[in-house]
Amino acid sequence: MKRVAVLTSGGDAPGMNAAIRAVVRTGVDKGWEMYGVYHGYAGLISGNARPMGARDVGGIIQQGGTILGSARSAEFRTEEGRVQAIRSLNMLGIDGLVVIGGNGSQSGAYELSKMGFPVVGVASTIDNDLVGSEITIGVDTALNIALEAIDRLKVTASSHQRAFIIEVMGRDCGYLALMAGIAGGAEVIVIPEIETNPENIASEIRRAYERGKAHAMIVVAEGAKYNAEALAAFFTVHKERIGFAVRTTQLGHVQRGGAPGAFDRLLATRLGAAATRYLESGQSGALMGLIKGEIVATPYSDVVGKIKQIDLSLLELARSLER
Ligand code: F6P
Repeated sequence: MKRVAVLTSGGDAPGMNAAIRAVVRTGVDKGWEMYGVYHGYAGLISGNARPMGARDVGGIIQQGGTILGSARSAEFRTEEGRVQAIRSLNMLGIDGLVVIGGNGSQSGAYELSKMGFPVVGVASTIDNDLVGSEITIGVDTALNIALEAIDRLKVTASSHQRAFIIEVMGRDCGYLALMAGIAGGAEVIVIPEIETNPENIASEIRRAYERGKAHAMIVVAEGAKYNAEALAAFFTVHKERIGFAVRTTQLGHVQRGGAPGAFDRLLATRLGAAATRYLESGQSGALMGLIKGEIVATPYSDVVGKIKQIDLSLLELARSLER
């Protein structure tokens, strides 16, 4: 291994820069030439890459987003696009690649690895939907951002005796909503993994109202069948079923911005360094993740296409505390 590239792909996540820094500096430490690929797989296809030294990744550990830029490339999903990506890598003389990203990005990395190119993944997405890492880069920071919003909304909700529907990101996974709901003391948590309907949710809110609560916080995952928009529409028509007046806040991309917290900086640093060392050992075709406190490489064949289960006993815990 002499020349290794790193790219970030898919939705940005706080901590990606810390991972880039760890990959580049670990490679530099080994005497390798390190390259940064700009704008994810789109940049890989067009050969948009530049050498990166230790100084190029200085002062970024505390920055959110990704200095390399990210993208979702439709072209890379085609075989032609991937063949062109390998061609670009060969033209640049690159002999190993680190892909920092989530589900879609790691599926793409698996494809490159099946084509014979040495690739290692770094688990990074706020959605926490990647098999092969109990927690991924960006989750902890995104969760804390959601919590800050919930805490603030609760203050105004209590002043006006209102219910607030708060929609959090997570794509098809309810992890962020579940954890933000528990840590934020929500009255109701709605996630895609558990079927419910607006009638049941309205009844739960009504019960909270009748117990004399000053507010009701409903944390909804964007991927739930009844998302914030659907629930708000139902509650508008069935006001009398609820008791509280209702307001809605969609947190959206605000959860992805901001500086990474200590947990994400540390996780990203450990995973980035481990990915580079994995390539050095002559191995590839795996995702670096955190399992039971250890950094573990899971083969892509056990990661891609698999669905991560969330611990639903936590939803029971949340329900038992909704008093
Ligand atoms: O995968 C991260 C994520 O933020 C999801 O939670 C969300 O559904 C999606 O990306 C939004 O994508 P985009 O940034 O392309 O709008």
